[in-house]
Amino acid sequence: MTAAQDPGQEAARGAANRESADTAGAREAAAQEVVRTGNTVPEPSVTSMFDSIAPVYDRMNTLMTAGMDGRWRRAAVRAANLSKGGTALDVACGTGKLTAALAAKVGPEGRVEGVDLSPAMLDEARRAFGAMRGIEFVLGNALSLPVADRSFDAATIAFGLRNLASFEDGFREMARAVRSGGRVVCLELSVPRPRFMGRFYVALFRITAPFIGALFRRRAAYAYLPSSLKGFPPAEEIAATMRHVGLKDVGFKRLGLGTVALHWGTVA
Ligand SMILES: C[S@@+](CC[C@H](N)C(=O)[O-])C[C@H]1O[C@@H](n2cnc3c(N)ncnc32)[C@H](O)[C@@H]1O
Repeated sequence: MTAAQDPGQEAARGAANRESADTAGAREAAAQEVVRTGNTVPEPSVTSMFDSIAPVYDRMNTLMTAGMDGRWRRAAVRAANLSKGGTALDVACGTGKLTAALAAKVGPEGRVEGVDLSPAMLDEARRAFGAMRGIEFVLGNALSLPVADRSFDAATIAFGLRNLASFEDGFREMARAVRSGGRVVCLELSVPRPRFMGRFYVALFRITAPFIGALFRRRAAYAYLPSSLKGFPPAEEIAATMRHVGLKDVGFKRLGLGTVALHWGTVA
């Protein structure tokens, strides 16, 4: 635990340490302002973290989002603009909930593929939805998708983008996989505005996420979640990144009091 997270301990150190604590605090505050272009945690660590939480991920997710995650995924399906018989790629599909919702949308004549880096998350996905017609779960990296160019009507990513080493490359790969006129959709956590609300939310998330993690005996893994949000770009910057990779008609809306952002863009 850092000094910034334990104010009681910090006070006990007394005035002699005041200057260095202030300097550290200022550095911490400055660091929070730095906007990242990708996740700094190495991919093997991200994979083993998700492998370790796979059996409890869905239950924890529902608890942490107060049951709102289903509604947000349905909004992502609508944004993907799919028709019956269509095709969709769900990147960083995890336990497959969005993949299954996309499969329901395109129906039995459609085709939906879920790709994820974590074998254990894919096991959960196959167990829950593997029997659905037209659905397939594949091990793969969002930054080097195992799919042909322009082979899907839409590509989605839900709560996966902030785990990628490069957000821009993630969008570039999704755009590559989608035909001209198709949609790229991103559902991701966001920091609410105005800034004081955002700071309050991040502080609260930092305390509650590991606590909920501890309930499921996954405390360390769930400490990763708030840290992955630190420095994550605001919604406007995510939209700019999408435009930068060539997506057109980029738009977004905030959901869940600004704690989540839904972005969409069209492949040129
Ligand atoms: C928070 S979970 C989200 C899962 C699911 N999309 C959902 O809506 O619940 C993030 C997922 O991203 C996956 N992931 C992280 N980095 C990845 C990468 N580089 N390529 C593919 N999947 C990745 C993890 O294994 C994990 O399953």
